[in-house]
Amino acid sequence: MSDANAEQARIAALLSQMTLEEKVGQLLQVPAGGGHVPELLRRAVSEGRIGSVINEVHVDTVNELQWLATRQSRLGIPLLVGRDVIHGFTTVFPIPLGQAASWNPALVTLGARVAAREAAAVGVNWTFSPMVDIGRDPRWGRVAEGYGEDPYLTGVMGAAAVRGYQGASLADVGSIAACAKHFAGYGASESGRDYNTTNIPENELRNVHLPPFKAAIDAGVATLMTSFSDLNGVPASANALLLTQILRDEWAFDGMVVSDWESIRQLAVHGFTANDRDSAFEAATAGVDMEMTSTTYADHLAALVRDGHVSMQRLDTMVSNVLRLKFRLGLFENPYTDASHFPEAACAEHLQAARDAAVESLVLLKNDHVAHEAVTAPVLPLALDRLSSLAVIGPLADDPHDQLGTWIFDGDAQYSVTTLQAIRAHCQAHGQADGGHGVAVHYARGVATTRSRDRAEFAEAVAVAERSDAVVLVLGEEAILSGEAHCRADVTLPGVQEELIAAIAATGKPVVLVLMAGRALAIERVVPHVQALVYAWHPGTMGGAAIADVLFGAASPSGKLPVTLPRVTGQIPMYYGHKHTGKPATHDTVVHIDDIEARAPQLSVGNTSFHLDVAHTPLFPFGYGLSYGTIEYANITTSHSTLTPDGSITVSADVINTGHRAADEVVQLYVRDVVGNVTRPVRELKAFEKVHLLPGERRLVRFTLTADHLAFYGRAMRRMTEPGQFHVWIGGSSTTDLRTEFVLSA
Ligand code: NOJ
Repeated sequence: MSDANAEQARIAALLSQMTLEEKVGQLLQVPAGGGHVPELLRRAVSEGRIGSVINEVHVDTVNELQWLATRQSRLGIPLLVGRDVIHGFTTVFPIPLGQAASWNPALVTLGARVAAREAAAVGVNWTFSPMVDIGRDPRWGRVAEGYGEDPYLTGVMGAAAVRGYQGASLADVGSIAACAKHFAGYGASESGRDYNTTNIPENELRNVHLPPFKAAIDAGVATLMTSFSDLNGVPASANALLLTQILRDEWAFDGMVVSDWESIRQLAVHGFTANDRDSAFEAATAGVDMEMTSTTYADHLAALVRDGHVSMQRLDTMVSNVLRLKFRLGLFENPYTDASHFPEAACAEHLQAARDAAVESLVLLKNDHVAHEAVTAPVLPLALDRLSSLAVIGPLADDPHDQLGTWIFDGDAQYSVTTLQAIRAHCQAHGQADGGHGVAVHYARGVATTRSRDRAEFAEAVAVAERSDAVVLVLGEEAILSGEAHCRADVTLPGVQEELIAAIAATGKPVVLVLMAGRALAIERVVPHVQALVYAWHPGTMGGAAIADVLFGAASPSGKLPVTLPRVTGQIPMYYGHKHTGKPATHDTVVHIDDIEARAPQLSVGNTSFHLDVAHTPLFPFGYGLSYGTIEYANITTSHSTLTPDGSITVSADVINTGHRAADEVVQLYVRDVVGNVTRPVRELKAFEKVHLLPGERRLVRFTLTADHLAFYGRAMRRMTEPGQFHVWIGGSSTTDLRTEFVLSA
């Protein structure tokens, strides 16, 4: 018998013994007691009326629950133990948006593996990660949890995370089930307000929002979670187009679908159903297998089946999806957790992995040359032998908690290395190695929190800058300003931080700004004041050490933006893969509000697509990021001028480091489908590779494209390719102009 048949036979054998109540029980996920087993839960688990618990991380309690489930209940079915392990467990990695900035899927896999090991050590066997929602609106707080604005990058990173959590086999010690969420369209919440309505034309849904879910499924993701939001009028938790037609019929997904927290009961709050019974009916028939925390299935599903509204066959399918996962996790054979099989949480190896991930997540956006004793050199890396003192300023410079970011239920700030700690340690070590040339580190907070409007500490911060040779300012957004339900209408730096930057800049000292944030911030007013800018996201436990590695040159920055940085909030949504429009803005067609004469005639401003009061371009484009090398691109060529439908074509270019320092560079390939039966994005990322380049090194980088890379959903909502002309670019960001072209033949 094949493995699949054997699995099916086990499921069928178990199903055939289950009562209706036991079947419904498998579809219920309930909150655990947090360190003890409450009496009601004990009884329910012992009677086989619970399929899963959420939020239990005490290993003894998890083992007790598994004992009740497997030894006390009639059929001995173990429990799924779910937890939000989003970017690390005890050891916190950069927020997913920061991990995406590394453009290094291997690091994402390793981070997920470490998280899985630490979580599995306490008995967790299912994480609600990765979030693969497309984040094109940084007002939405949950952009922190995703991999940015691009479907391809998000898909690659989501798949990388799935591989890390689930390992080679779900049954391996240290593997846990992953969950791609939130299916689907959540990132398009109106106005960036969490949980809000989404209206996404099916064509855009299929071309932009769904591909990362498909990528996660292709990587073997065990489960999917539905979105809180409604999609084109039908809440995702009762959306048969998503949950049945696309997920099961088109994609043949054989994993399990869980609702979001109470999202089935909320179907009535949406005004989509009249009551809990209808909500249970709609969710069950649309395709939600397990209900997270609300109790509409517990209260009504058995009756719906008895009354014939929900067929037994449908119920059996739902239960089979749950049982299949439990079999695949090996829980029937090994329900218990022995913590001694796992490395210590936050052990040296895990901390090193977090540091490596944080280093590669840092994006260098600006690095001006400054004059120093007749020579000019970039501000970064900071040359300690040319400094005698360094100011470290800002509320995030020495905050072990806020550098961890959102969703860190189990993160432990006692392991955090802050930027101030790491800079002090580095300067001290340098002083000792240098036989006494110490660099004094002066610290001031500047403001109490990133939100504070109190300027009382400005004077001290300015004084600290005055008596130092250079300034490292660590500002941004505290962890609590992004994540679920933490959305902002104005994505500039909160509080009086812009004023603080201006006050420090007025000292004339070179200023290195390190920004920690859970989203793309609109920092147009800030950038001119600083000589260097490092975008650090929320970098996690080892964030400070990683920042010091980059500031002092132990590592060259290699991150690239996974999101566009807008100039001002009003430009949102602003993303590189937009449509061309019939009247695209160009430098020659835009007019600024200040340049319009009084009573100018209506047609004098150029009729193209732009705002009058801000440039039509972003502040920093998707894919952008500098290093300590000097990277140039040349000689783009294709192996053939024509790509046949079943052939392949190689696109290559030289990437050269003309600088004096080794660097890693993310080489990116974009295409444009010049004419489509539906309008196509101006550019789409199709491939990337991170390469290491020694000073002076020239490397030929090659990418192979097939027709499948060029496929998209056309007017008929079928995945297709269209013969015709394609432009292709290779370069270091989405605005590279190194272009060639080829034709896809019929
Ligand atoms: C609600 C969130 O939307 C989801 O992402 C999370 O996994 C669940 N709650 C469980 O905590």
